[in-house]
Amino acid sequence: MAAMKDLMAWVDARLPVTQAFEKHMSKYYAPKNLNVLYLFGVLSLLVLVNQLLTGVWLTMSYNPSAEGAFASVEYIMRDVEYGWLIRYMHSTGASAFFVVVYLHMFRGLLYGSYQKPRELVWLFGMAIYLALMAEAFMGYLLPWGQMSYWGAQVIISLFSAIPMIGPDLAQWVRGDYLISGITLNRFFSLHVIALPLVLVALVVLHLLALHHVGSNNPKGVDIKKHKDENGIPLDGIPFHPYYTVHDIVGVAVFLFVFCGVVFFFPEMGGYFLEKPNFEAANPLKTPEHIAPVWYFTPFYAILRAVTYPLFGLDAKFWGVVAMGGAIAILFVLPWLDRSPVKAMRYKGWMSKVALVLFCISFVVLGVLGVLPSTEGRTTVAQLASVVYFAYFILMPFYTKWESTKPVPERV
Ligand code: HEM
Repeated sequence: MAAMKDLMAWVDARLPVTQAFEKHMSKYYAPKNLNVLYLFGVLSLLVLVNQLLTGVWLTMSYNPSAEGAFASVEYIMRDVEYGWLIRYMHSTGASAFFVVVYLHMFRGLLYGSYQKPRELVWLFGMAIYLALMAEAFMGYLLPWGQMSYWGAQVIISLFSAIPMIGPDLAQWVRGDYLISGITLNRFFSLHVIALPLVLVALVVLHLLALHHVGSNNPKGVDIKKHKDENGIPLDGIPFHPYYTVHDIVGVAVFLFVFCGVVFFFPEMGGYFLEKPNFEAANPLKTPEHIAPVWYFTPFYAILRAVTYPLFGLDAKFWGVVAMGGAIAILFVLPWLDRSPVKAMRYKGWMSKVALVLFCISFVVLGVLGVLPSTEGRTTVAQLASVVYFAYFILMPFYTKWESTKPVPERV
């Protein structure tokens, strides 16, 4: 024990490990009223680690070439020891990542966690979300199945809708006239090296920014307003051991569900692993119905909802603008909300109705994005897209007009 203490003192004199542990864990005072929705940050971290580890092991047996990719995934599934487990952990992990991140973002909307002073926490979160979408999109090409191939074909061809530079840009992204082994190689490189590095760096910045200002809570009460004589927030408790132990329960529940999916429903009825992807990519055979994986479908539905040309530019271009705008508008959320209170429970009825309608529109768009489009479905998607954008565009007005309830001094 004494030797351990000496060793720690030796390290601390050279690298402040104990000081960092105290700052971010044992002396990081988190509000004592954090609820179950506050688990999804930790779960996002857990899934990130799962993706990094299983990804490293998959890369050991994967062959990033148009000739060998599909067969190497089959080889991993059939011949590599526990290869099936590693692959299913990685493919289930991709969907799990979006489940936990969407719930994590929803918590932000519910409790106004993006408001001052946490704007940067939100912006880093949004940058993570963008990187995560790019990471998932590029990863999906790697098994080189029919949906990998044609999904990438559809999405990359969207670049060609940009006037003037579009077609050249699409070709530049593909590195070829059509999706080929060259595209697969660059996606592999970005998926395995570049984007994971960016993601990890952004997560570190996200957490450093959060720990600088401190966590929000379900009541949106500022716990730093009331401190004891040692400067410790009266409504705060040390993250370690209180929340570390508390989070173990959530992690255990999550792992039960995660393992249930991995062992019993890894394809999740074609939503996590799509059926056409069990067939090798064939550039001469277009699948009957091309749809992105479920986590992209709300945005895909917005893209398809735009059917009118405008100012001499075709509908596809405006669809791309709407889809990009649907993601971009989330970045400015901290400046759209002008409510004097953070948490939904103290906001007025307009904010509550707006959030409910927004969530419904997001789910409806998600469902429509999976289905082949018909005239009726396009009309519903157009309505849902209007609701989606109205939530943001009208936010400065309804958050200003509505009357709010007083926020208590303490949690
Ligand atoms: C890899 C993905 C992510 C990881 C690992 C991650 C991790 C975390 C962790 C551990 C926390 C503290 C615990 C908690 O409040 O739940 C947190 C807080 C937060 N995150 Fe994330 N996050 C990720 C993505 C995002 C995204 C996409 C957004 C939104 C665009 C976001 C917005 C926030 C906000 C606003 C907070 C502060 C919440 C509060 O104090 O009420 N995060 N994040």
